[in-house]
Amino acid sequence: MEPQKPQADPGHPPLEELAVQPLLNRDFESRPAVFFERLREEYGPVAPVNVLGVPAWLVIGYSQTLDVLRDTRGVWSRRVDSWRAYRDGEVPADWPMLPVVESGNSAFRDGADATRLRGAWSEGLRPFQDRSRLEAKALEGAILRYADELITVLAEGSGRTGWADLSAQYARPLPLMVIGRLLGEGADGDDELIIDLWRIVDAGPDSHEASDRLNARVASVCAARAEAPGSDLPSYMLAAVPDLTADELTREMTMMTVMVGDVTGTLICNTITEILIGATGARDSMSAGMIQEAINRASAANPPMANLAFRWAKADVRLGRFQVGAGDPVLVSPAAAHLDPAFTRTSAPDSIYSSRAHLAWGAGPHACLGRDLATTITTIAVDRLFDRFSGLRLALPADQLPWRSSPLIRGLRSLPVTYELAADAVPTPPPTSAQEERDGSSGEGSDSLVRRVLRMMRLSPS
Ligand code: HEM
Repeated sequence: MEPQKPQADPGHPPLEELAVQPLLNRDFESRPAVFFERLREEYGPVAPVNVLGVPAWLVIGYSQTLDVLRDTRGVWSRRVDSWRAYRDGEVPADWPMLPVVESGNSAFRDGADATRLRGAWSEGLRPFQDRSRLEAKALEGAILRYADELITVLAEGSGRTGWADLSAQYARPLPLMVIGRLLGEGADGDDELIIDLWRIVDAGPDSHEASDRLNARVASVCAARAEAPGSDLPSYMLAAVPDLTADELTREMTMMTVMVGDVTGTLICNTITEILIGATGARDSMSAGMIQEAINRASAANPPMANLAFRWAKADVRLGRFQVGAGDPVLVSPAAAHLDPAFTRTSAPDSIYSSRAHLAWGAGPHACLGRDLATTITTIAVDRLFDRFSGLRLALPADQLPWRSSPLIRGLRSLPVTYELAADAVPTPPPTSAQEERDGSSGEGSDSLVRRVLRMMRLSPS
């Protein structure tokens, strides 16, 4: 449906005049609760904000966020051409979020088009997410071994105690190796790939060039899979929806590199951080052996996808105290929704929301399809870390942790810790050669995949 022009008099000035508050500011980065509270007080559950020069409605109320995500009224579009200002040529060509909103992947499609691509995702991911399948078991085994070897390398050369950056040395390389496995043989990533992912999602000044580089890399892997299918995600997606074009497959696999490489790595860091800080009960959950509950609590406190990249109103629609005009952009914020008293009261006996009602995985027709895979990677990463280290502490006070400046992601630039190795922890043994062959992770000792990736990331001398 072609979005209409705004019709009725909204009874307030248009978005363009109201959006004076910059979304990116010091409080948003380091004290988001303070920023969201200020917005809530001034505007209620929906606030006009300025996103790097572009006006948008930021949805910060829990029930309004859920309402937009579920879209039972069918008023929200994810197609960038539903954006009035974009159609009218008013969005600057160098706006750093253009590569995200113009990416054309399943997240930015509507209706049958989105359903077809989501079908390819569900079928393609099934072998890796259904834990009864061989691929899923092999992947879990590989993640275990990667995690253990990363820890071994990280602690090499120091005694039982030391210092580490768990973002650079653990949470970033681990998902890179998973990307390599999902894409299939010969597609191991390197740190440049992750840095390009950051440039894109953090809307940096060179996001356009980074996006071109990433697309070119992924396109060549997808072309190879179409030529010679294997036991990998692109091949399985093609088998499920054979008329997927090379462009479509490339767009979805580029999105996968973001979801695994950046977003899952962020969840690993955020969960470790929340356990170490211990303020939200994540540490208690971990001590009780409930890693998934610790992940839930971390996802509620700091959802990796803090704000969800844009939806556009197909028609005028009332939201909070404002009338959102047809073609206006809306950014829903799980991070802010989780701070809404309607959600934070969840521990009250009369609460209608459970603690698992967080929105870190989205909801409705665009809800996350890779949740099980991301949870598996994070669970193994966190479990191995707290098993191998008996003492793990933040090396900085919690309020000095370096959060990234990003309109979309809530994640750390680095996670400095001090550690003490557990005397009795047993690392997962290296793969047997039969396993290596299956895993495409040939090499042991100085030539293992872990060490090769760390060398590419310039994190290991040997
Ligand atoms: C911690 C890691 C992850 C988090 C927090 C996360 C979160 C989300 C969220 C919030 C959405 C909804 C976006 C929106 O409605 O605007 C989403 C969608 C999606 N995610 Fe994830 N995700 C994660 C990992 C993954 C992984 C590992 C994959 C696949 C390999 C994946 C695949 C998808 C897909 C295919 C969609 C749906 C796109 C659509 O139909 O619009 N995600 N994810």
